[in-house]
Amino acid sequence: MNRRVVLAARPSALPAPGDFAFAESRVPEPAAGEFLVAARYLSADPLQRWRMDETANYGATIAIGETIWGRMVGEVVRSRHPGWREGDVAEGMLGWQTYALSRGETEKARYAPGVTRVDPSLAPVSTSLGILGMPGVTAYFAMLEICDPRPGKTVVVSAAAGAVGSLAGQIARLHGCRVVGIAGGPEKARHVQSELRFDTAIDYRGSPDLQAALRAACPDGVDAFFDNTGGEVADAVYSLLAKGARVAVVGRIAQLGGKGTRADVQEYILAARARIEGFIVYDYEHRADEARQRIAGWLAAGEVRYRETVHDGIESAPQALIDVLQGRGLGKHVIRID
Ligand SMILES: NC(=O)c1ccc[n+]([C@@H]2O[C@H](COP(=O)([O-])OP(=O)(O)OC[C@H]3O[C@@H](n4cnc5c(N)ncnc54)[C@H](OP(=O)(O)O)[C@@H]3O)[C@@H](O)[C@H]2O)c1
Repeated sequence: MNRRVVLAARPSALPAPGDFAFAESRVPEPAAGEFLVAARYLSADPLQRWRMDETANYGATIAIGETIWGRMVGEVVRSRHPGWREGDVAEGMLGWQTYALSRGETEKARYAPGVTRVDPSLAPVSTSLGILGMPGVTAYFAMLEICDPRPGKTVVVSAAAGAVGSLAGQIARLHGCRVVGIAGGPEKARHVQSELRFDTAIDYRGSPDLQAALRAACPDGVDAFFDNTGGEVADAVYSLLAKGARVAVVGRIAQLGGKGTRADVQEYILAARARIEGFIVYDYEHRADEARQRIAGWLAAGEVRYRETVHDGIESAPQALIDVLQGRGLGKHVIRID
């Protein structure tokens, strides 16, 4: 049987386990031009939560009763597609289910249904959901195309122990920047500094005055801000932007449930003559391979590191997403399917 996670109710802020339900259906047979993928890992990504709202801020929204949209990496177990063979490994937005059909399209439409061929010799296949997948591509292009990292610049990355932030900061370090990471809790801050080798890490949950802690870490101001969270953490960074700063608006996880930012952001942007740019990874799909190859090179050379938090079984998928949103665990959250 194909086990699926479906949307049972729309959450108001943080999802609860009861917002999800499980359904079973027969494993589908591929028609001509299709192949069947058996899931090895499913992905828990913050964007899934935004897709559960009645109106998603971009793209589309998941209907009640529909399989939760989510990324999967798995093995082709049956194929009637000329370009895909049994044993090939595919990654894509194939849903939170144990089996999925694909037509193998690589172009992304509606909510990115295309699939990518995964090379299992590069790294464990779970990385195609993390450092070599959508989060890695996000970190790569938002850092390089928007933050403009150059030697001597001070770059601040929020959610620095997470899937995107951990790589974004390491890329800035590889480009000669002074990198300051912001993460929740002492364990994450230690990880960011000692394992990911950021210059400084600030535990925003344990800092009574985040702005003061940031000012001490960035005495000449912030030249680039990779904003993964919005909310109060972002407010503190905006107030320290240096002249000509670049800001990549990548995520707003702190603003779940309508919690907005309170700072007078316009004042800081104007005073710093800063450039602020929104980023959506799907705009870079056509260049994703370029990012994957470069990141794989850094990985092979030991220049970047990654962590995964592994949840076992499709039943753990809802809690995995709740953990991502609440900041439990390090790095990329994946759900292992037997
Ligand atoms: N624009 C795009 O195309 C794109 C693509 C991928 C991801 N994203 C966004 O990028 C961000 C990071 O994604 P990810 O997959 O790498 O997730 P992640 O960082 O692995 O997980 C989310 C992290 O957000 C932090 N967080 C939660 N609530 C917070 C709050 N109130 N204030 C500050 N931090 C908070 C938590 O870390 P702490 O424990 O440190 O608080 C949590 O670990 C998300 O906002 C996501 O939506 C955007």
